Amino acid sequence: MGEAQAGESGVGAPEEVATGTSVTRDSETRQTPGHDIPQVDLHSHLVPAVDDGARDEEMAVAMLRVAAADGTRIIAATPHADGSRPATIPDAVQRLNELAQEAEIPIEVVPGCEYKLTRYLGIFYKQGRLITLNGKPYVLVELPDWNEWPRWVPRSLAALLEDGLWPVFAHPERHPPVQRNPELVLEAVQAGALVQINAGSLLGSNGREAQRVAVLLLRARAAHLIASDSHHPQDRPPCISAALERAAALAGDDYARWMRWAALQVVLGERVEVPQPDPEILRSDESWLDRVRDWLGTP
Ligand SMILES: [Fe+2]
Repeated sequence: MGEAQAGESGVGAPEEVATGTSVTRDSETRQTPGHDIPQVDLHSHLVPAVDDGARDEEMAVAMLRVAAADGTRIIAATPHADGSRPATIPDAVQRLNELAQEAEIPIEVVPGCEYKLTRYLGIFYKQGRLITLNGKPYVLVELPDWNEWPRWVPRSLAALLEDGLWPVFAHPERHPPVQRNPELVLEAVQAGALVQINAGSLLGSNGREAQRVAVLLLRARAAHLIASDSHHPQDRPPCISAALERAAALAGDDYARWMRWAALQVVLGERVEVPQPDPEILRSDESWLDRVRDWLGTP
């Protein structure tokens, strides 16, 4: 995506981060790399009773409490567009913020929506009907079909960029076509998308294949963001700090810090320059020893 080249370390400069947010970090935030950067979770199913996420307000508040305890200070509520009514999301987010304040939970909820990728999202955007992440140009998109990587993925992503939208590509590591051929994700990176992997995938809760591919994407610098994709306070919880720690072990402290910074830039609506990915890593078939290293969290 970006015009400028990444720095020598392969990533941009997180020290330039803007922190103009109303959310402050409390003293109990875990000391993960980049802990001075507010922890941002860009993908969650917090809005009550609209999709397969929070069942009711009580469960949504429980999720916010878990997220805050994990160190998250800004969380995007991103219901599935299918089935929910995206136009109602801003009011639902306002209600979630009121509930968080009442419960004295130090977290800010911002709006978002998880859309199936189509080139027509740009039309909705121009009509003012698209719920982007925090009302900025980034939009969360996922593949329309779990079993297919359509040939038109790069064209659709490029069309979104032409319409002024900056796509965040949700959890490709969970899709079987990507698990068979992780290099497909490079099409999204080259088209200008930021790639978001799920915290649970990196930690193994979405199965061995999703974990293997999440690790490969991270090592190849083809994963740029870690989010929870949370649906429940315990079963699919809104936690990302352990995954950020794992990312630091696998890809280095600088890269994990950069990922935190990149997530903050998304909610601030600032353009993120991504490092050049390494296709060789994606081509490599992991050895048994690599898998043990992944499991142990050692580089
Ligand atoms: Fe999701």
